[in-house]
Amino acid sequence: MTAVGIDAIEVWTGNLRLDLPGTFAPQKGEDPEKYTKGLGLNASSFPDSYEDIVTMAANAAHRLMDRKGLEPDDIGRIDVATESAFDNSKPVSTYVAGCLEQVFDGDFHHANKGERKFACIAGTQSLDDAYNWIRAGRNRGRAALVIATDTALYARDDPGEATQGAGAVAMLIDEDPALVELSPEQGYGSADETDFLKPNQQFPSVDGKRSVQVYLARMREALEDYESVAGDTHPDDFAFIPFHTPFPGMVRKAALLGYRHMTRDTAIEEELADEIGRQPRPEAFDDDEAYHDALRDYMDGLKGTDPYREWYAETIEPTLSIAREVGNWYTGSVHVARASALKSAFERGTDLAGETLLLGSYGSGAQAEIHAETVREGWEEELAQLNVDEQLDSRYELAWEEYEEIHDAHNHEMDVDIEELTTPEAEFVFDGWGRMGERKYRYVE
Ligand code: HMG
Repeated sequence: MTAVGIDAIEVWTGNLRLDLPGTFAPQKGEDPEKYTKGLGLNASSFPDSYEDIVTMAANAAHRLMDRKGLEPDDIGRIDVATESAFDNSKPVSTYVAGCLEQVFDGDFHHANKGERKFACIAGTQSLDDAYNWIRAGRNRGRAALVIATDTALYARDDPGEATQGAGAVAMLIDEDPALVELSPEQGYGSADETDFLKPNQQFPSVDGKRSVQVYLARMREALEDYESVAGDTHPDDFAFIPFHTPFPGMVRKAALLGYRHMTRDTAIEEELADEIGRQPRPEAFDDDEAYHDALRDYMDGLKGTDPYREWYAETIEPTLSIAREVGNWYTGSVHVARASALKSAFERGTDLAGETLLLGSYGSGAQAEIHAETVREGWEEELAQLNVDEQLDSRYELAWEEYEEIHDAHNHEMDVDIEELTTPEAEFVFDGWGRMGERKYRYVE
């Protein structure tokens, strides 16, 4: 079977930066460590006044196509995943194609375009759609462009405000990919949940504490479903486990749960038994509450053990480095986590070819998906092209008043016109409204 997977990846951040411990925490009267240590975030990325989901998506796709030497004819499909769409009919992918046609010769008239919605998991679903399209042999030798793009803004003073972010991830899905091959095996955990939703409103209604529990429950269900087709998982099977990362503290919880699950009935559980006992089994308890108390105690012990800490430092921590600096990018978030992990391996000179990643994607509402990816020979050349650090370093640092203004400027219910804080260069910009209420875009040299 020919390998199908991600051939190239590009990350595009919003051009502004909000410092959480330095600028946000004092205004909220909070200890800066709540953000850096508790949530695990140093900063959020924000869009300047001329940026939105289309400009960020088109900029990421432009950079990707440019460096891969692609023409519109090479692309048979453009899928955009977003939960920040501004139109209930016309998909963002048509705007993105329009932008790209300004800078490339040719057009995308024979490419299938769409928009995927299921909260943050839509990015991975689009990847799956592209994979299935290629596997079905309907691609006529062409590749798919999948772009996850979001302005993840919360209402001011919502507890989620600390986890905001804005950015896009563009991925080229193709046969014989340069970066990772996707596994045909997948596991799902899906249920009708009311934890985070936007019923025709821009900013989400969130039950934050519940959303954390729903994330963990669905992720665990997805892992069990994955194991039912791929066989049991073991912590040593995976070089990295990139999770959907609304904030790194969420991944800390998911990783601990995953490790406990994967080590049950293994030599690792036995090895740890002297120190923290064996894992509690439900049949040994009279009631659920006693079982859950025992589980909590076990997990508290587990997170302090050397094997867990070493595994976390190697397998999970490297997936979080970009998220710590940009916040939640919703649909792009798990793809940012994969990029972080590969980037850290590249920087350390690790030989990853043939190694396996386990991806834990999640979307509120709610659904988790687990699948595996095998790193391909030559992945380093692809990774060497990423310029994430330069992008992050060149963001404009927002003062508190500027943050308030830019949040208002992006609020669809407010009519606030503000000066740009940065000067666009070699990128697409929002250029006002057309006669039917459509958005217009222009490429700035
Ligand atoms: P909160 O209530 O302000 O924060 O909001 P908290 O009091 O729970 O504190 C956060 C953590 O910081 C806690 O860690 C504190 O202990 C710790 P934990 O105990 O949970 O491990 N902390 C400190 N640590 C060190 N020093 C200190 C300190 N103070 C506190 N001084 C909440 C947290 C997550 C609720 C909020 O940010 C929120 O509502 N976020 C939005 C929802 C969200 O991100 N949910 C995540 C799961 S759902 C998901 O991922 C889907 C999503 O991406 C959307 C989609 O799918 O489309 C959101």
